[in-house]
Amino acid sequence: MKIGIIGTGMVGQAIGAKLIEVGHDVMHGTRDVAKTLERTKPDSMGTPSFAKWMQQHPKSKLETFKEAAAHGELVINATSGVASLAALDYAGKENLDGKILIDIANPLDFSEGFPPSLTICNTDSLGEQIQREFPETKVVKTLNTMNCHVMANPKLVPGNHTVFICGNDTHAKTKVKGFLTDWFGWKKENILDLGDITNARGTEMLLPIWVRLYGALKNPMFNFHVVVGSKPKE
Ligand SMILES: NC(=O)c1ccc[n+]([C@@H]2O[C@H](COP(=O)([O-])OP(=O)(O)OC[C@H]3O[C@@H](n4cnc5c(N)ncnc54)[C@H](OP(=O)(O)O)[C@@H]3O)[C@@H](O)[C@H]2O)c1
Repeated sequence: MKIGIIGTGMVGQAIGAKLIEVGHDVMHGTRDVAKTLERTKPDSMGTPSFAKWMQQHPKSKLETFKEAAAHGELVINATSGVASLAALDYAGKENLDGKILIDIANPLDFSEGFPPSLTICNTDSLGEQIQREFPETKVVKTLNTMNCHVMANPKLVPGNHTVFICGNDTHAKTKVKGFLTDWFGWKKENILDLGDITNARGTEMLLPIWVRLYGALKNPMFNFHVVVGSKPKE
């Protein structure tokens, strides 16, 4: 399948590597192709430059946000949450209308350092804002509650653990659940469908506890696991 990934950070790289590995035609999108290719040093978080990543993935392609969105039969938003709406506006409604958009972004503000705060919460979410801005696009929020290496390779965390999914279009969600199992290796029973896109409030608001757990565990290779018990007898 032709897939456009909007974003060149560690999520774009991890998801892109897996999608290329399983045989897809992947194009990443960035603001300025020349500038992105000029960078050769890892960023402040230690993420390798995209140029270096491309050398390790010879089938990869890099163009602008717009071209990557136009390329994709499926489009993935892997941009900084505070910039996602701007990035997707640049990608263009005409290149997103009618398509499934998997939204992995979280509205995290790192401007005051670590831990970050949420720029949208409680009564709204980034997933909803994207769906409102792009009403003809089928926004499916998923994979945003775990480290990017776990997204693309859930076996990095042993045993059962949960990936949440939500969105307004049932058919789009069914397709994305298939992508999660067939491409990334998620077990069907570990995919928890929360309902419509307003549920992105819940999954995005898991991030404050995610970053605290990371601080406590000093290791990002963990995940949430929802375990359902039986109701107490009357
Ligand atoms: N890192 C993880 O393990 C993880 C896990 C779960 C969810 N997420 C979420 O996934 C998203 C991507 O995370 P990441 O760590 O890969 O990278 P990131 O640093 O959060 O985002 C990188 C991407 O955002 C774009 N971007 C940054 N500022 C922009 C602006 N002002 N206008 C337009 N685009 C801009 C960059 O464009 P250029 O290519 O032009 O530089 C780049 O492609 C985030 O929303 C994050 O919260 C991350």
